[in-house]
Amino acid sequence: MTDVAKGDAVYARMGFDRDGAAAEYAVVPARFLAPKPRTLGHVESAALPLSGLSAWQGLFVHGGLQAGERVLILGAAGGVGHFATQLARWRGAHVIGVASGDGVEIARSLGAHEVVDRSTTKFEDVVEPVDLVFDTVGGDVLARSAAVLRQGGRLVTVAEEPPADVAEKVAATYFVVKPDRDQLVELARLADEGAVRPAIDSVFPLDEVRAAFKRVMEPSKRGKVVLEVVHD
Ligand SMILES: NC(=O)c1ccc[n+]([C@@H]2O[C@H](COP(=O)([O-])OP(=O)(O)OC[C@H]3O[C@@H](n4cnc5c(N)ncnc54)[C@H](OP(=O)(O)O)[C@@H]3O)[C@@H](O)[C@H]2O)c1
Repeated sequence: MTDVAKGDAVYARMGFDRDGAAAEYAVVPARFLAPKPRTLGHVESAALPLSGLSAWQGLFVHGGLQAGERVLILGAAGGVGHFATQLARWRGAHVIGVASGDGVEIARSLGAHEVVDRSTTKFEDVVEPVDLVFDTVGGDVLARSAAVLRQGGRLVTVAEEPPADVAEKVAATYFVVKPDRDQLVELARLADEGAVRPAIDSVFPLDEVRAAFKRVMEPSKRGKVVLEVVHD
């Protein structure tokens, strides 16, 4: 079922089982389509589905985050993390972010109650026990994060499968984001209410797609890299 009609402006997260959206035209199952946020332009709307849904599903579907709980977000100013920080705050959680450089101030401005600067401080030395860790970094950071969970706490990661010794000790979930139009409808509503705002790092025309993907890999990137289709 879908509530969109011919000619409507829509947005979607496409399935990973088909070619992507780095194209002028893309075929998308109608059930994936949601009306695009009214108050965002096409560039900002395009930045939302993949990372916004990853944050939504990580915090709420897999993480079961409730108002009043404490959540630690690893990579709180990153592509997925900056949505997670805003969504966790909107849910009414106590939000602790880990970031570095200008990411510290960005995470704070997005609603984090506390931000640990990873360039000076190890989060496990200063963070009081949390109900949920949402990891967007993986590796050593993911492995160390189990230490800050309260008894019975949950660890959710989008980065990679947690190491076996972590998965033995705590409830740890790795997931791959799924298309979900109902969640996109909710994200559009939150964007239109001003509760969630996508951060745009840079915008590339479609014929500079190679440069766009190169930019995605650069550590200095802040927010989402967007491809724009410009019609003459
Ligand atoms: N499973 C899925 O469905 C799914 C969906 C989307 C994304 N992903 C994956 O999720 C990961 C994050 O994606 P993204 O778009 O959010 O990437 P991103 O924009 O590059 O953000 C990652 C963040 O990690 C932080 N970081 C980098 N190295 C770190 C370290 N050593 N210690 C602590 N923090 C560190 C950086 O924050 P600071 O610079 O502020 O420290 C950066 O903002 C990627 O691996 C991506 O492939 C998976």
